[in-house]
Amino acid sequence: MVDVHSHILPFVDDGCSTLEEALTLLGDHVAQGVKTFILTPHYRKEEYEPSVEELKRVFNDFEKAVAEKFPNVKLYLGEEIFCDMNVYSLLKEGKVIPIGNTNKVLLEFNYTAFTDIADFAYNVMYSGYTPIIAHIERYEYVKRIDQIVEMKENGALIQVNAESLLDPVLRKRIFILIKNGLIDFISSDAHYSRKACAKEAYKIIAKKFSREIADNLFFKNAENLILN
Ligand SMILES: [Fe+2]
Repeated sequence: MVDVHSHILPFVDDGCSTLEEALTLLGDHVAQGVKTFILTPHYRKEEYEPSVEELKRVFNDFEKAVAEKFPNVKLYLGEEIFCDMNVYSLLKEGKVIPIGNTNKVLLEFNYTAFTDIADFAYNVMYSGYTPIIAHIERYEYVKRIDQIVEMKENGALIQVNAESLLDPVLRKRIFILIKNGLIDFISSDAHYSRKACAKEAYKIIAKKFSREIADNLFFKNAENLILN
């Protein structure tokens, strides 16, 4: 599997505070079948604002530690960028980074206060980046399918958290979205405090839909994302 959203990189956000935690968490997800990780620490104004230089330095150190313990694991660096009006200048000035060597950016939004995500998606596309909307199931004000259809029409890719599939209410909603072809990735959003559940989540999707759809959501779409 390929995980496009994780907080495994240590020291830089609320994901892992020590190298040991980070390696343990990574190992938990490797045991679930994940082989490629995009590390996406938070960028949130006045909370987490790592410089790109710092991120790259921490990433390079972590990559070395991982190579020793998990030689078959591949890591990419990205960020989960909290989206407000600053996002365009942050991207333009290179203060935040896309995923790997692509032009795809992982964006998160306020969970409760209405935000026009489709409009942000349009403007981010217009700035030359492809937006990936993190954990779409989490936003209280995104209730209708047509809202997500509009985001996709504006060029967005849509991610949901694997853990959400274990919640019966969220699972129902996610099934409807998958049925309508609106989801691109199922990922861990891994934090040290959160249990790895990719295997169980994969089984749920394969049983409800098909292995082919599960493969697309858990790795094929993500592979294409990194390659393009
Ligand atoms: Fe996250």
